[in-house]
Formats: sequence, C-alpha cells, structure tokens
Amino acid sequence: MHRLYSLAFGAVAAALTLTASSASAASLTRQPYLQRVGPDTATIAFRLDGNCVPAVRYGTHGSTHESAQSADAGRTHAIVLSGLQPGTEYTYLVEACGARTTPVRFSTAPVPGTRSVHFTAVGDFGMNNADQRAVANAMLARKPELFLMLGDNAYESGTEAEFQSNLFVPMAPLLAQVPSVAVPGNHEYVTNRAQPYFDNLYLPTSPTGGEHYYSFDWGHVHFVGLDANCAMGMASQDRCSLAAQRKWLEQDLAASDAPWKVVFLHYPPWSSGEHGSQPLIHREFTPLFEKYGVDLVLTGHDHHYERTYPMKGSAVGRSGEQNPTYLVVGGGGASLRPFETSKPSWTAVRNDRDHGYLDVKVEEGTLTAQVLTPSGQMIDSFSLTKDLPPLPEETPGVTSPSSPVGSEQPGTAQPTTPAPGPVTGNPGLPGGSGDVEDLDPNAPGCSTGPAMVMLPAGLLVLAGALRRRRRR
Ligand SMILES: [Fe+2]
Repeated sequence: MHRLYSLAFGAVAAALTLTASSASAASLTRQPYLQRVGPDTATIAFRLDGNCVPAVRYGTHGSTHESAQSADAGRTHAIVLSGLQPGTEYTYLVEACGARTTPVRFSTAPVPGTRSVHFTAVGDFGMNNADQRAVANAMLARKPELFLMLGDNAYESGTEAEFQSNLFVPMAPLLAQVPSVAVPGNHEYVTNRAQPYFDNLYLPTSPTGGEHYYSFDWGHVHFVGLDANCAMGMASQDRCSLAAQRKWLEQDLAASDAPWKVVFLHYPPWSSGEHGSQPLIHREFTPLFEKYGVDLVLTGHDHHYERTYPMKGSAVGRSGEQNPTYLVVGGGGASLRPFETSKPSWTAVRNDRDHGYLDVKVEEGTLTAQVLTPSGQMIDSFSLTKDLPPLPEETPGVTSPSSPVGSEQPGTAQPTTPAPGPVTGNPGLPGGSGDVEDLDPNAPGCSTGPAMVMLPAGLLVLAGALRRRRRR
C-alpha cells in the first residue's frame, strides 16, 4: 500500500517562470507540480524545452541550499526529494540549463495520524476555461493540504496535448503548491485507455491495480482512489478488472485503522443529474462502503453539485446508523447541466447553477465540509461527527515520527465503543424538490433526519510525535 501524508502551504506567488541567467537557458514547458508527497518525501515533476540535467533546489526557512538532481538530461523530469522532515515548510525552485524558477513554498506532511486534515476536491474541470481557473485559484487560496481530482481532468479525450493545455497550464499555480492525486474519468479513457493520464501523473499504487486504484493515509484520514472505468470494462482486464479491484478494495478497507475513510471515484452511485445514478457502481461498490464504514464518497461525472443523505442499500439509512454520504462535485469547469427531474427524496442538497469545489476539514472527530463558488458563496455545508479514542500516552524512544499510520504495531491504542453522532447541514442553494428518484423503485423516501455513528477507531497514533508537532 502506498501511503502519502499531508502538506500545508505558504501562500506564495503562483506563477513560476525561469529567470534566465544565460543565453542558452531552457524554459519550463510545464511548471513544477507536486506528486507523491509524504512526511519525508515529495516528487517535483516538470518539463523542459531543452536538454540539460536539471535539479530541484530546496531548503527550510526560505533557503534553497539543498539540491536533488535529475537522473538524466531529457525533457520530462520527476525529481524525488527524500529525507524531509514532517510538518516542515520547504522552499523549492527548479534549476535548469543556467536558469531558475521563482521559489515557492510547501510544507511536508504532518506526523502520521495527526488529527487535523484539510483537503479540497472537484471533478470535470479540464477545459482550460475561465471557470476552471477561477475554481483552481479559489482552492489554492484556501491553502489545502491535498487536492483530489475526481476525473475528467483533461477534456475532450485525455490526450497528451490536452493534459498539457487543459490541466497543467490552467492549474499550474495550484499544482505547484498543493499535492494532488487523481482518479480517471471517462474522458481520459477516450485515448488509449487513459495512457496519457498514467504517463503524466505520478500516483500512489496498489499491488494489483498499479496506479488505477490505490489508498493512502493522510493524517487520520484513509483515502481510497478507484478507477471506476475498470468496472465498465474500459481498461485492459489484465491491468484493472472489476473483480480484482473489488477484492483489493475490501481487503484495503478491512485493514484500515484510520478513524475516517474517504473514497473518491469518477462515476456516482447516486446522482439526479444528466447521467444519473450508476447502477453498476452502486451494486459493486456501495455494499463495501457501508460494510467498512466509509464516511464520504466523492464523485463527479455529472456537472453539478449534489449531496445525499447517508445511504444504506437503495434508500436513506436509518437514524443512528453510520452510512456513507455521497457527493457529486462535478462543477469544476465544464458546462453545468440543469436538472431535468425534481429533487429526489435521498438528495439533501443539489445545485446546477454554480461552479464550485469541495473544501473539507477533519479535526479530531468532526468533519466539516463546505462547497464554495470561486467567489466564496456557500453552495452547501455539512458536518459529520464521531467520538475518537483518546490519544495514547507517549512512550519515549519507541516511535518514529515518520512512520506511517497502519505501520505501527496493533495494540498501541484502544478502540472505543462506537457512539452515534449527527450529520448536520444547511439547505444550500436548492435546485428543486419533489418526487422520489431511487435506484430501487420500491425504496422508501426519506422523512427523518439521518445520522451516523462513529467507526471502530483503533487509532494508531504516535502520541509523542504528534505532541511534538503540536508544540511547533
Ligand atoms: Fe465524466
């Protein structure tokens, strides 16, 4: 299992341009983007228009006295920084062919298990238009630790050229300062089974799915990225089959001790938009989400925003149960699509009028989510709560601050008895109301306030390391 950890960021000038110091200086044809970031590592990817051996210069406290050199003199580079300190701000720049980019800052991930996570997510943005840029810049201004791309990241067909023009150019400031992970949409799969997507992004991996599907822990949140195209038979079966992905997903979720679980994939099990709820995704994956206590499922595909009540099977879950909340966050830049049906009973909030993104903060046992337009208008807000066990007492000299969550020895923390917690939310900017629109035509509608209970939460936190971080 590949694991990543969080970054926090300084707000710095976004545009990165090489400052030429020689007549033969190269320029960056693709500005740096942060990939595979952890508490002690970060990959800085970029592209040049010349052939030289570039380096990333980096350091703490505004210095860039350390250096990591690329392995070759090609034009595509992904330089790995290692030996970094968790929860520490670094400045970095790219040095290539006698020129340097403007320095920008980022912070390494916090100590594993840290009970404070801030991330953003959106899908269906890869248009290279003003709406995409506005959403991306608004996300950057929120200074998230992590950005989840929910698919359809490079319209129209996910070609090599479209990744450059419709992802890396318009979102360069964000991607230079915020680590990102992605799942592919259907549009990526138009070109060679999404090969340009895999060529251009450096993603976590899983043993059976490679970069198709994977998981990682970020603070006290377990993230799972799925390639729903595999379920549709769009991928090579030897690389990503539905059966293998389901098997891996079940094992992965069962093995996670993180108190919060977030899954992201492109196709929505629940949606009242143009494409609608995807029955295959619903049938194959939602039982696992329910069984293993997934809190939040993030999707795109339909170009609107929508939040369900916590769902169980084909209906709204009963109050007092812990069930997944499903979001469609497809307003990242592509043209919005108006709802053509009345609001289903399982929909808490939906909006088809505004582009926007999801901003989530998970502090201890409270997940607070906001869906915001680029101008800051609130489309939706809600929170999920659960009780977490107290942090274990520090045992000096037995832990490492860079050890990942889940790699600690079981028994260092005690799971607590699950306790119910509420889901609260605002009415947002409703797009309509009316008839039930369930996958199961016999499913009852919702008339009671949904609720959730906490997950079994054997939190394997390194208390001493966490306290050290908090003292900083
Ligand atoms: Fe899509």
